Amino acid sequence: MASDDQISLFDLSGTATPTPVASTPNYNPDLIPTDAKVPIVPGTYNSMEEMSQHCNRCQRCKLGQSRTHAVISRGNPQAPIMIVGEGPGQNEDETGLPFVGKAGQLLDKILESVRLTTERDVFICNVVKCRPPGNRTPEADEIAACRGYLIEQVRLVDPQIILLTGATAVRGVTGDKQGITKIRGQWTEWQGKLCMPIFHPAYLLRNPSKEKGSPKWLMWQDIQAVRARLDELLSGE
Ligand code: URA
Repeated sequence: MASDDQISLFDLSGTATPTPVASTPNYNPDLIPTDAKVPIVPGTYNSMEEMSQHCNRCQRCKLGQSRTHAVISRGNPQAPIMIVGEGPGQNEDETGLPFVGKAGQLLDKILESVRLTTERDVFICNVVKCRPPGNRTPEADEIAACRGYLIEQVRLVDPQIILLTGATAVRGVTGDKQGITKIRGQWTEWQGKLCMPIFHPAYLLRNPSKEKGSPKWLMWQDIQAVRARLDELLSGE
């Protein structure tokens, strides 16, 4: 099945329009550490906009040399759900927005299938903010160099639920090296936050079956569990 057709499998309505991160006038990025030897301490940034300006000058790892744009986030910076992906691909590097290619379109459909929107419910980001050349998996030193930014995003957004898409995101965030097939759909805790590993949407594009037990079917179970848990949290249960 063509990937365009697969995106339509989760289609309920039109896709949300991504909102670019705005820039903050008068902010001086020279005052914050772009060298990996200088740690990014919690509380460095007052906003995602500040962090975005810094990331676009960052040379904490080699990915800074080849990026077009650092890819910080899209969605509601006060959302109850944060989704963490692996790293930007070509479309994301070009636009500066995460998950805007085929995998991102499928992710939006999956969210819409349980009435979750990036305008209200979801904030999307990645473990690394710059595109690994040729879309290779980010390396351990790159994930480590970028970790302070992710921790700052978690602090600023303060989500109630974090979804980790694919094994690299799980490893990069929690350090868990287990296979995604084994741990997907299981609630876990990380830094006091409720987390769930889920399949990466790009994996779903490569696995078109919707049969019971297939990756897409499992994703449907997982996203319904996320919706139910969010409803519980919002109703104060
Ligand atoms: N895949 C990811 O993990 N992140 C993106 O932003 C795009 C594709």
